[in-house]
Amino acid sequence: MSTSKSDNPYVPELAVIEKIITETSDTKTFRAVFQNEALRESFTYEPGQFQEVSVFGVGEATFCLTSTPTRKGYIEFAVKKVGTVTSALQDIDEGATVGIRAPLGNWFPYNDFKGKDLLFIGGGIGMAPMRSLLNFCLDNRADYGKIDIIYGARSSGDLSFQYEFDDWSKSPNTNLYLTIDKPEDGWTKNVGFVPAYLMDLKPSPENTIAITCGPPIMIKFVLQNLRELGFTDEQIWTTLEMKMKCGIGKCGRCNIGHKYVCIDGPVFSNAQLAELPPEY
Ligand code: FES
Repeated sequence: MSTSKSDNPYVPELAVIEKIITETSDTKTFRAVFQNEALRESFTYEPGQFQEVSVFGVGEATFCLTSTPTRKGYIEFAVKKVGTVTSALQDIDEGATVGIRAPLGNWFPYNDFKGKDLLFIGGGIGMAPMRSLLNFCLDNRADYGKIDIIYGARSSGDLSFQYEFDDWSKSPNTNLYLTIDKPEDGWTKNVGFVPAYLMDLKPSPENTIAITCGPPIMIKFVLQNLRELGFTDEQIWTTLEMKMKCGIGKCGRCNIGHKYVCIDGPVFSNAQLAELPPEY
């Protein structure tokens, strides 16, 4: 039995969907295990990396890895229904076989974040790529300072990973701040947009790294507000979801200026993004 991945980067490894979790009305999380048992044990990746998932007979699409490499034996990815492949994925059942090319891209420089406070700011499905780093840091809790998580969505039903909220908020020196756009019966947390909630909470930029991902309009105002709070571009990190296809720097579909999101990213600091043309 082969113990390693194919040498051809376009050839996917077969994986079985072991578990499907319905997150929201249009988003599901898939847990996949490689068919090749040796690969299942040896496979590793870094928080922030992504993968190409193929549904046979339909096509291939890009998804960030939402699981953390500290929890071995499987990988997870979240799928929002937006196109052909994502719709096909949403229709498959547990036990189905998919193709996976992974891990691809760069990752969050978590070693550089050690000893610092971390501020996660997520909107909607934007929590998916950050969940890998968040759970990685929580699994290595002693390496990081305070962890604040600001997470918002249109409604309470649009918040993903709700089954982990208790674990997140109960972790030592960790705070989970939830917000939704409009009031709802029974909702006891904050109401308001994520950027405004950020300004209410006023986190200190001192020795802090901010990681943010979400809808472009949220990111725009989060960045503006982080700067107002005194964060520098070097302290702010994000991950981009450009239209990727090959995932390995060959097709030219994901470029921003001279950078390819698939190999130079998808993780960038705001300082790195500031050097690129404003097309992301
Ligand atoms: S996805 Fe093909 S070059 Fe980046």
